[in-house]
Amino acid sequence: MTVEPSKRTGPAPAGFIGPTRTMTTLRVNGHDHYTVLEPRTSLLDALREHLHLTGTKKGCDQGACGACTVWIDNRRVLACLTLALAAEGREITTIEGVADGDRLHPVQRAFLAADGFQCGYCTPGQIMSAIKCIEEGHAESEAEIAEWMSGNICRCAAYQNIREAVCQGREALRREDGELP
Ligand code: FES
Ligand code: FES
Repeated sequence: MTVEPSKRTGPAPAGFIGPTRTMTTLRVNGHDHYTVLEPRTSLLDALREHLHLTGTKKGCDQGACGACTVWIDNRRVLACLTLALAAEGREITTIEGVADGDRLHPVQRAFLAADGFQCGYCTPGQIMSAIKCIEEGHAESEAEIAEWMSGNICRCAAYQNIREAVCQGREALRREDGELP
């Protein structure tokens, strides 16, 4: 039923079905988090506002910038375009979960070494995307990196250093895997 704007406050009219809250469990970085969410809550808001994992950034909130990139079942996704309830029962990984304790992930170290950021706001999303870009085999050249990282916007335009960081991260991962001396 349609409710006139002037009458939208107060108790819901009979027959009006609005969103209810739902108990859900999100598995993030290897830990189960029990939380109560409205069904319309995005994964991004669930992570930031309910679980207080603020490493994942909100840029555009409409799928255009990549700042909110996380992994679900090891694939990169945009958390602002994903309903939290759709991620229930899946393995969610955020930037807080990529380091090994105090030891940064090789791609995180590469971003530091290559100065792959300026203000740093886009950096968590860039790193989450970069790791998968390398694992997918889409980081063999600067042109390929530019293409496969094109969903991650950097307002500071640190693209040259970001591409260099991805190259350095790719080599570091290969050294760790014994593919390079
Ligand atoms: Fe999700 Fe911009 S905040 S793509
Ligand atoms: Fe500032 Fe990318 S480093 S937005």
